[in-house]
Amino acid sequence: MAVSEAFLHLDPMLLFKSGANFGKQRNLGLVEFHYSLGTSQNGIKSYAFSSVGYYSTDRKNRTKRSCFSRCKCQKADSISEVTADDGRPTSLSINGRTNVNNAQEFELNQLLKSDKEGFANGDTNGVGTVIDSRKSIEEEAWDLLKESVVYYCGNPIGTIAASDTSSSSILNYDQVFIRDFIPSGIAFLLKGEYDIVRNFILYTLQLQSWEKTMDCHSPGQGLMPASFKVRTVPRDGDDSVTEDVLDPDFGEAAIGRVAPVDSGLWWIILLRAYGKCTGDLSVQERVDVQTGIKMILKLCLADGFDMFPTLLVTDGSCMIDRRMGIHGHPLEIQALFYSALLCAREMLASEDGSADLIRALNNRLVALSFHIREYYWIDMKKLNEIYRYKTEEYSFDAVNKFNIYPDQIPPWLVEFMPARGGYLIGNLQPAHMDFRFFSLGNLWSIVGSLATVDQSHAILDLVEAKWSELVADMPLKICYPALEGQEWRIITGSDPKNTPWSYHNGGSWPTLLWQLTVACIKMNRPEVAEKAVMLAERRICRDKWPEYYDTRRARFIGKQSRLFQTWSIAGYLVAKLLLANPSAAKILINEEDADLVNAFSCMLSANPRKKRGQKGFKQPFLI
Ligand code: GLC
Repeated sequence: MAVSEAFLHLDPMLLFKSGANFGKQRNLGLVEFHYSLGTSQNGIKSYAFSSVGYYSTDRKNRTKRSCFSRCKCQKADSISEVTADDGRPTSLSINGRTNVNNAQEFELNQLLKSDKEGFANGDTNGVGTVIDSRKSIEEEAWDLLKESVVYYCGNPIGTIAASDTSSSSILNYDQVFIRDFIPSGIAFLLKGEYDIVRNFILYTLQLQSWEKTMDCHSPGQGLMPASFKVRTVPRDGDDSVTEDVLDPDFGEAAIGRVAPVDSGLWWIILLRAYGKCTGDLSVQERVDVQTGIKMILKLCLADGFDMFPTLLVTDGSCMIDRRMGIHGHPLEIQALFYSALLCAREMLASEDGSADLIRALNNRLVALSFHIREYYWIDMKKLNEIYRYKTEEYSFDAVNKFNIYPDQIPPWLVEFMPARGGYLIGNLQPAHMDFRFFSLGNLWSIVGSLATVDQSHAILDLVEAKWSELVADMPLKICYPALEGQEWRIITGSDPKNTPWSYHNGGSWPTLLWQLTVACIKMNRPEVAEKAVMLAERRICRDKWPEYYDTRRARFIGKQSRLFQTWSIAGYLVAKLLLANPSAAKILINEEDADLVNAFSCMLSANPRKKRGQKGFKQPFLI
């Protein structure tokens, strides 16, 4: 084995392990590690790595640049050559053996191939890869996904958000987004490419304990970044040596400065999927990983002023990451929260120190599922109840607990609600129901069993009944309907990107195909997802894998939509892979827990206020 190859088989994360005994403070001082290697024998790649990593577990001592591992990549093929000028990785390898020249070799081979075989269509796809008109859509998607891989110190660590060289403003689309990587990670897992997912999990975990501040204020310690970038920078005082640096964004640089509440939840969901798919439980069992899970949970389960078990968040704290009137208790966050709680419960090692946390987690699961199933659910019957609600009820027995004024029922909903079917509303606050249909929240409520089995079927019934509104020419509307006129002005703050039926405001996002597919498979209705995939296939590749589509029927490529958006590509691939092998979807699914069902029915049949002090009322999980 060449020396550099040996290096690439090293697990840089193990190097952190010696200092990974994270107690409450994770304050163990500095861990320093060195590794240096010679050059490869094959003449293609000649890295000489010498690396010094410092990991300070002391929050006070941590500064952004000085305390995280840096990878110095010396000599000929410095890391900057692994990443092209436009930030797009030129390497195609995804198994940890990066070969800088492979990218050029690949493109050359493609050209030669096209020459030899006389392609009529020698078109390029805009990111440099020659489009082979006879390549299947899936093959092209795989090529693009592999090209989107980002490397850190020669190891695959994530995928870039978009590789659109035609776009003049890159913004942060050249970064690895946590939420965007999930479908990429799942696609790699399903293909047996495990290293990239493992690296992603472990490196992003290190970012969790980063010093993060905005104007002297720090968010909670368990927060995961929205995105990170691998920067290749000259080493201090020595221009001939470069080093890779991970540069995370926790929202302090993001447009609108939004904290990504969903990142940590997705991280937990991916961690479980990794264990289930690979059978390798050693990652989730690591002390630092267990600590990471607990930190996320503690942040989410911390007591506040809340009366509701749902997570209270600001606008833009999830996939919809700018102002869209979803502050409060948006469904997407609640669905991810519930699913992450179930995943974490499966993975947490039972030890004395975590008993309180597990108790809090179990109590929250019961309360959260009750709250969402009861108060977020609407169908024709419930709508009619709301229509006849009495208001201003002061009592423990109030029917209209949140004091919803029936006039809030929007006219569009009267038309939209099918006779058969229903859905979970977008948000619930005092005197406010956000009746918009949000796709991701509803789909993930099915996947994670936050919705009951009947509700899950009813959501899919609604998707089918309202196909021309929700799917139309390209799956899937992010939400329905769009905010228009005065509502758009007030709620979005006149956001020109979120105009009606565009982007987050009723735009259509192909990435949502994978969540739709998992939900359909879970409910044994794969044909619904198949229909959607077929629709997407008619255009998505020809349209260069856009981020989103505009207009009511999703007829146009989005006004400001990026092309070659990685999660559109990965979402399509995951949908295809799962439809071909539906049983693989179980790595993402949470089956309904019998204890929870029991607890739920107890709560339904018992108004806790009435039962206060009453003997014999057994509340499961309250130990
Ligand atoms: C947009 C999306 C967000 C995504 C990011 C990168 O901001 O709203 O969900 O993570 O682009 O693709």
